[in-house]
Amino acid sequence: MAFLEVNNLYKSFNETEVLKGVSFEMERGEVLSIIGSSGNGKTTLLRCLNGLEMANAGTISIDGETVFPADGKNSKQTGLTFGMVFQNFNLFPQYTALRNVTLAMDVQAEKTLGKKNPFDFKRKQALKELRAKNETEARLLLARVGLENKVDNYPCELSGGQQQRVAIARALALSPDILCFDEPTSALDPELTGEVLKVIKQLRSEGRTMIIVTHELEFARNVSDKIIFMADGVIEETGTPQELFENPKSEKTKAFFEKLSEKVTENDD
Ligand SMILES: Nc1ncnc2c1ncn2[C@@H]1O[C@H](COP(=O)(O)OP(=O)(O)OP(=O)(O)O)[C@@H](O)[C@H]1O
Ligand SMILES: [Mg+2]
Repeated sequence: MAFLEVNNLYKSFNETEVLKGVSFEMERGEVLSIIGSSGNGKTTLLRCLNGLEMANAGTISIDGETVFPADGKNSKQTGLTFGMVFQNFNLFPQYTALRNVTLAMDVQAEKTLGKKNPFDFKRKQALKELRAKNETEARLLLARVGLENKVDNYPCELSGGQQQRVAIARALALSPDILCFDEPTSALDPELTGEVLKVIKQLRSEGRTMIIVTHELEFARNVSDKIIFMADGVIEETGTPQELFENPKSEKTKAFFEKLSEKVTENDD
């Protein structure tokens, strides 16, 4: 049994069938990249994993526990099994970097304390302590992504690369089993891409389990244990970076790489 097992996932939006039976598995500590042309359902797949969209059919299980469809029967169904880093960062503009990271942690902490009651001073004290602990943790996380000097800055005062690193710290704050990235560098200027990719590489060396949707093929090749090529709502081909890049088997995979290399040649002219 693999750590993550995705089985026959289907998702449609009205008449549009986007995921048409997606199945794959990955082990704990692996890095899996998903590549493929625009509009093929890569974002939709990540959103279904994260519970941001509801798949129409299929199953998702982690460590042998079903997380989709949810029946409320196990602890993995709290929605915290997956973390997500979005293409456009999705930070709260009205909060500092630090608050962006602590917010979700505080909401989680409050849940563990049960119902609110204005006269429950023990609960108030416990919450205060948990919040202080969260703040210390958030500062450490921001330092880990190289932002110890930016904790009090607002998103509009940060570069795109710095905002994306805050978003990564925020995703890590909830200790997800699997961290997902949806084109984490595509909204960044090329000179800022490197700093985000460096953080992802560092997370890999720490043994994080990650799924990365990316158009940065060279990066995918370097950082991934396994690569999935998606086409027309299904997984067309899966393999190690070497297998996929050097010896693609499917005609669709070959065509995808050929089209990309034509583009690169055009840009060189
Ligand atoms: N909320 C939605 N409502 C209706 N259609 C949607 C919705 N989200 C996605 N789609 C459609 O689903 C298809 C797949 O979209 P998706 O964003 O998953 O593709 P993608 O592979 O991530 O593309 P890209 O590489 O451009 O990011 C597209 O045709 C898109 O228009
Ligand atoms: Mg997308």
